[in-house]
Amino acid sequence: MNLNRVPPAPPDAILGLTEAFKKDPRPEKINLGVGVFMDDTGRTPVLPTVKQAEEDLAREETSKSYLPIAGLPAFGERVADLVFGAGHEVVRSGRVRMAQSPGGTGALRIGAEFLRKFLPSSKAWLSAPTWPNHKGVFSAAGLPVADYPYYDPASRSLAFGKMAEALDSVPENDVVVLHVCCHNPTGADLSADQWREAAAIAARRRWIPFFDFAYQGFGAGLEADRAGLLPFLQAGLPVLVAASFSKNFGLYNERTGALALVAPDAAEAAAWLSHVQVLVRVLYSNPPAHGAAIAARILGDPLARADWEREVDAMRGRMVSIRDALVNGLRARGAPVDFSFIHAQRGMFSFSGLSDAQVAFLREKKAIYMVGGGRINVAGITTRNLDYLCDSVVEALRAAP
Ligand code: LMR
Repeated sequence: MNLNRVPPAPPDAILGLTEAFKKDPRPEKINLGVGVFMDDTGRTPVLPTVKQAEEDLAREETSKSYLPIAGLPAFGERVADLVFGAGHEVVRSGRVRMAQSPGGTGALRIGAEFLRKFLPSSKAWLSAPTWPNHKGVFSAAGLPVADYPYYDPASRSLAFGKMAEALDSVPENDVVVLHVCCHNPTGADLSADQWREAAAIAARRRWIPFFDFAYQGFGAGLEADRAGLLPFLQAGLPVLVAASFSKNFGLYNERTGALALVAPDAAEAAAWLSHVQVLVRVLYSNPPAHGAAIAARILGDPLARADWEREVDAMRGRMVSIRDALVNGLRARGAPVDFSFIHAQRGMFSFSGLSDAQVAFLREKKAIYMVGGGRINVAGITTRNLDYLCDSVVEALRAAP
């Protein structure tokens, strides 16, 4: 290989779709691709609490000097409380150390680099299906990837029996990537009992859980959504968590996230963080400040925090009600498929069960964009585009059964 005639890389499975959508001249077009919240007018708003925090910061900020390599200390402290629960034993004992990161993707990557450094012969196990970028991130960090069963397309629900069986044969010190809530792309989450069982398997087989926590607050609520983490913490296992504030703070382009390292004791946690800092230094030196300053400010001010919690509840409420509208709209049109399973899915995504041919039909003939595999961002549905969407989906089901 050389630099003559480098063939173009394929477009990104999700972000590439947005680029194609923007170029589409058809006025009826609908973007149900990338996981970005939209209100009923189709806009992705800046949350009012975020706007206020930005105004305050603009007034009060006195320096643009570098942050520490692990980021803004107040951000790390407040995020640890948000992710694990204020006063949780892992926080009080110092078993948690935080590294601010450029988004959830940055947290996944520095976590994967850390694991690769100390567990060079480990694999990363990903749910089938999963967010397409997981494979890219873990492979880029040098961890070979493998799949564990997660979803049963026939029953359109979690395949927990098969998942548990597979996790029970994951070798010690391999890494298992788990979605804490609002599984991307299926919207199918584990129940509290299933999480307990998964944690018991991890404790027995001694694999390392690495949680992707990108949708806290979008499933059942900010507190309820962390339920999956708790049995793993209680079992005293080493745990990594990649948290993102793109969705729940709407800070998409501010690249605001955090890697939480939960080690067996405080000294170990400090040592782990020291290595993550070395990795950060050679990747991007230190993290960007703006988004983290906003989140830290809101989380640290009781009044702003209460307002923000209401904003998160409102975003979740919209996604729940739009799911109902979609299911009802399809039923009212006599869709040849019963879509009521969409009610049980949680978060931003609905795994529609549409085939690749139907997804292609919707894009080519109807200017409706969704991710391959039939993932729909329900937040892209509005009162205005709902009828057109339901008509088009029913047409696609008949045209490409
Ligand atoms: C998604 O899955 O659409 C989001 O997480 C955005 C992304 O980075 O892919």
